[in-house]
Amino acid sequence: MTDTQKKNVAKILGVEYAVVQAPMAYIAGHRLAAAVSSAGGLGVLGPNAGYVEGEQITTRDRLLRELHRVRELTDKPVGVNVVLAAGGNAAALAYAKSTVLAAADGGATACVCVGGLVPEIFDLIKEKGMNLIVRPLTPDSRNARRAEELGADIFVATGCDAGGVLPANGVGTFSIVPAIASSLSIPVLAAGGINDRRGVRAALALGAAGVFCGTRFIATEECAANAKTKELICKCRGADLLVIDDTKRSLPTEFAAEVYVKHRLQPGAPASVDLVHALRDGMYGDNPDKGIVSVNTAIDLISSVVPAAQALQELAAGFEAA
Ligand SMILES: Cc1cc2nc3c(=O)[nH]c(=O)nc-3n(C[C@H](O)[C@H](O)[C@H](O)COP(=O)(O)O)c2cc1C
Repeated sequence: MTDTQKKNVAKILGVEYAVVQAPMAYIAGHRLAAAVSSAGGLGVLGPNAGYVEGEQITTRDRLLRELHRVRELTDKPVGVNVVLAAGGNAAALAYAKSTVLAAADGGATACVCVGGLVPEIFDLIKEKGMNLIVRPLTPDSRNARRAEELGADIFVATGCDAGGVLPANGVGTFSIVPAIASSLSIPVLAAGGINDRRGVRAALALGAAGVFCGTRFIATEECAANAKTKELICKCRGADLLVIDDTKRSLPTEFAAEVYVKHRLQPGAPASVDLVHALRDGMYGDNPDKGIVSVNTAIDLISSVVPAAQALQELAAGFEAA
């Protein structure tokens, strides 16, 4: 990748810094996205942003409401997460389509597609004039090249150091980023374990053109995660993480410890935990012990809850020194 291509990320997205705040279910809402975008990165709304227990509202209307709230705070670019199931499930496709249409109607400038590569959805995003950022859960040079062929503007290479659902092949950020960066001509963002300027410098040294960060933005004032979750992140270390199934880790909440014992240590136990609900209960509800707290392995680098703009500035400092 040439220097011009590296610089292109900010230009493509219309932002100051090549830092994308990763979408996170429930907890990446309008306050966080607006704060990151106002500070010069790209804020991205996660699935179920703005969720209110018991409220009767369609997913489309809730997303439009969140985008409207972002627009009350900033007119800078903002993105929306689009979840794509691999292999053409009709209901999932309709859901993704309606998310893209609501994103466009609400003034989003980018869609971050996670999961499968779905040409019909990618085309719709481009047709609506939004940037197409593609993040397979398990990136490899084949799906990266395919995403580029299908018109992706930016590809996200996620390594196993990440929070959220982990790549299924166990490949870490240091291994996957250079492998993908040398197989594409579009810019690559590094994701997984990047919490400060040192992580950004390392990502750039590996050939990434920018970074895609989730966990660092959880411990910010504007993130919709509950205060106890934020405290727990500041208090814990990466070594405290429990592997609760093949693709998920959690800080040692009561729920996670129970799941760890039941699902992980007993032979024949179910292979996976319902991440979305467990995450909602642990991170968005009022008590982390009721669910899981999913974070990256580099949380030793997070010691306080700060304004999102400060977290962004710290990451952005990595570009200066590179
Ligand atoms: C609590 C949590 C929830 C997440 N939920 C989503 C999600 O709904 N959609 C998605 O595309 N990625 C999700 N992710 C993954 C992030 O988008 C991103 O890839 C990852 O957090 C980057 O790694 P980092 O946490 O090491 O910065 C989530 C991550 C976390 C930590």
